[in-house]
Amino acid sequence: MSARLAVALSDVPSPGAVRVVLDGVPVAVVRDGNGEVHAISDTCSHADVSLAEGEVDDCSIECWLHGSRFDLRTGKPLALPAIRPVAVYSVSIEDGQVLVDVSAPLVLEES
Ligand code: FES
Repeated sequence: MSARLAVALSDVPSPGAVRVVLDGVPVAVVRDGNGEVHAISDTCSHADVSLAEGEVDDCSIECWLHGSRFDLRTGKPLALPAIRPVAVYSVSIEDGQVLVDVSAPLVLEES
């Protein structure tokens, strides 16, 4: 597999996130406070909660349920209760479309 069309860039809030499912994988496409686009696993590593529903601040996103914040570049939790990182995927922008490759995560999710 390779990069797949995820969403139109204009449909991603700035800052903010949208949830997409690519090849069965839930992904949060996130635009950070600087306008940079990231793609991470949409499932919080603490429980089965969509991270795309959380608040984006600078280069992190906060899980709305218990408040863990994840670094969008590394997937690492920056605050408890989550202790495991979420997967991070490669992103590219072509002709106003966000492409995401879920086949080879840049950072693997720990189980
Ligand atoms: S479900 Fe995300 S921090 Fe608890």
